[in-house]
Amino acid sequence: MSQSLVPTLSPMALDMNPDWWKTAVVYQIYPRSFADANGDTIGDLAGLTSRVPYLAALGVDAVWLSPFYPSALADGGYDVDDYRDVDPKIGTLAEFDAMTAALHAAGIRLVVDIVPNHSSDRHPWFREALAAAPDSPARDRYIFRDGRGEHGELPPTDFRATFGGPAWTRVADGQWYFHLFAIEQPDFNWDNPEVRADFLTTLRFWADRGVDGFRVDVADGLFKRLPGPGSDYTGDPWTPRDELDRRLDEVYAGWRAVFDEYDPPRCAVGEVWAEPIERRLRFARPDNLGQAFNFDLLRANFRASEFRAIVNRNLVAAAAVGASQTWVLSNHDVVRHATRYGLPLTRPAAPNEFPPPTVVREVEWLKSGGVEPVEDVTLGLSRAKAATAFLLGLPGAAYLYQGEELGLREVADLDAADRQDPTFFRSDGDEIGRDGCRVPLPWTPEGPSFGFGPAGAHLPQPAWFAGYAASVEAADPGSALTLYRELMSRRKQLLTSADSGLTWLDAPDGVLGYARGGGWQVWTNFGDLPAPLPAGEILVATSPVDGTLPPATTVWLHA
Ligand code: NOJ
Ligand code: CA
Repeated sequence: MSQSLVPTLSPMALDMNPDWWKTAVVYQIYPRSFADANGDTIGDLAGLTSRVPYLAALGVDAVWLSPFYPSALADGGYDVDDYRDVDPKIGTLAEFDAMTAALHAAGIRLVVDIVPNHSSDRHPWFREALAAAPDSPARDRYIFRDGRGEHGELPPTDFRATFGGPAWTRVADGQWYFHLFAIEQPDFNWDNPEVRADFLTTLRFWADRGVDGFRVDVADGLFKRLPGPGSDYTGDPWTPRDELDRRLDEVYAGWRAVFDEYDPPRCAVGEVWAEPIERRLRFARPDNLGQAFNFDLLRANFRASEFRAIVNRNLVAAAAVGASQTWVLSNHDVVRHATRYGLPLTRPAAPNEFPPPTVVREVEWLKSGGVEPVEDVTLGLSRAKAATAFLLGLPGAAYLYQGEELGLREVADLDAADRQDPTFFRSDGDEIGRDGCRVPLPWTPEGPSFGFGPAGAHLPQPAWFAGYAASVEAADPGSALTLYRELMSRRKQLLTSADSGLTWLDAPDGVLGYARGGGWQVWTNFGDLPAPLPAGEILVATSPVDGTLPPATTVWLHA
């Protein structure tokens, strides 16, 4: 491709602080559901580029782009055919470069998803492995084993895949391969030097093109203990954890060395659902990936005691290893938070309880088609706005998911025939899955796909999306979009004089207040009754304030 299409960094627009990612607001884009430029019902890179002015007006510091690689979409693009190309269904490398240049020119950094645990079953290496003999070098890049039973007819272990069904699939010559996720996602063998080297090549490929950082999929899961040469172990693959984690440390030290070849160093954030918190933060150490998602708030109830305990726990644990904070309320894997907060509260989770009661409730609600229990839409939105404003005041980085700035709710009533998530298929419909938070965004109140593109949308949008259209909300001073814009622009100003930590303020039951230094205070009323309004100049309020701090409301004050 022509060199002129390779973006040049625009030093005027980009924040040159190498630590930008420690306090960034990062906006996640699920590219196939963001904006469709060519009318084939699938969002694409050209569509994304056309929306850069929207992102700039929103005020985000960075975009995290979910997988855009060639893929049969067995798992929404997390089944990658080629790590160093763009899916022709959504664009070209030249369009990727144009997108990067447009983002950078608008002062927005770009973080791309990298999927090291597994490729797709269409990846040339997996095809080569299938065509090769057992015990061949080609098979060693993945995890192939003989089965148990007289004729090898039983899988090597009883371990279950995350999306349901066995984690092993048998191939024509009788061997089995391991897949933590869908059948179409064979796991790499991270003890294989070619696999390790190839990922370093991939990291450099994108970093050379101007990518600023990486979101690492299943970051803590690359090594597992499985039966193999010299071992007939068939127990839990995640043990002994510490030994597996030490091997991961070594892999990520190699990645860190690559990141540090660049100026500014490339950043990384690990997707780590692991408990306990110390284990998650292992991957957030400065000599490791540097940052790991903290999903604690995403599983909590809208309850002051839960939020406060989570903030305390994370601030202390991160400081202990020199890691920066991250905060998340929504992403492409969970029920949107405007909906979660509209469902009845559950009891708080016990330490390390999995699945937590909030998630059990959401799974049940999805199964009922979104009717039981009844979603309180108004309360859900008020709480969602309040929780977001609480989160955007906290020290550290915040990750937002496309559509939450519109206050978008989960779409719970998609037809089975329209569903795409392998969770749904692999569980025979017992688990509804994640399609309801991946429905293409509404940009305008009319049009064949509410402005998503000139034609329809690859997942059907409900009629009520019209009321959440970006163009409608941009013109409404009371909308979620207007609030998000205000929060982001205030945050930029306030961060210049804020402390790196926070101080809790005395507050009545059900209310949390914290100070960030420079006079910045954040107050959230988690309760059902109005609370006294703290003194100070109100900078932002998530609902109209009338001399009290209303229920389900956050205010930012200058005290
Ligand atoms: C985590 C991703 O966020 C999720 O969407 C995906 O299904 C799994 N990893 C497997 O790649
Ligand atoms: Ca398209």
